[in-house]
Amino acid sequence: MIRPVLRMGDPRLLRVAKAVAPEEFALIPALLEDMRDTMRHLSGAGLAAPQIGVDLRVVIFGVQSNPRYPDAEAVPDTVLINPMIEALDATQDSGWEGCLSVPGMRGLVPRYTRIRYSGLDAAGQKFSRIAENFHARVVQHECDHLDGVLYPMRITDLRDFGFSEVLFPDQPIEDD
Ligand code: NI
Repeated sequence: MIRPVLRMGDPRLLRVAKAVAPEEFALIPALLEDMRDTMRHLSGAGLAAPQIGVDLRVVIFGVQSNPRYPDAEAVPDTVLINPMIEALDATQDSGWEGCLSVPGMRGLVPRYTRIRYSGLDAAGQKFSRIAENFHARVVQHECDHLDGVLYPMRITDLRDFGFSEVLFPDQPIEDD
């Protein structure tokens, strides 16, 4: 079911979400179905459970060809529960981000270039993966939602924040 996405200003986006306990995994399939439906409907690169008002440490992400991110590298479709992120070195780079909770806007955000992330998959099995560049950026953005952090809070110069259609007038109109 497509669920409404909370927008910046809603205090539920600012909570530190709760870890999924083993006995709560029975709830996960229905949650993931709603998250996938909602992300697909809005052509998002990722979605965190708090964005649909669910206070749990669950994110999904994945990019094949996405009209919101025309130049983006592919990112595997992933379910990540109770995640941990470790930067592999101190290198960061800046890239433009958008968010379904901040519709119509883009901002330039520094993120670690190379990370290892780990957590549980939809079946509750541990896994870990190394990611870099756009993949690493998407993971850091989504996991920030679990700590109540929205990307505008990470913009280092607010002159690098604005409306997508003004910043990028040649890109197709997007539905956020
Ligand atoms: Ni977001």
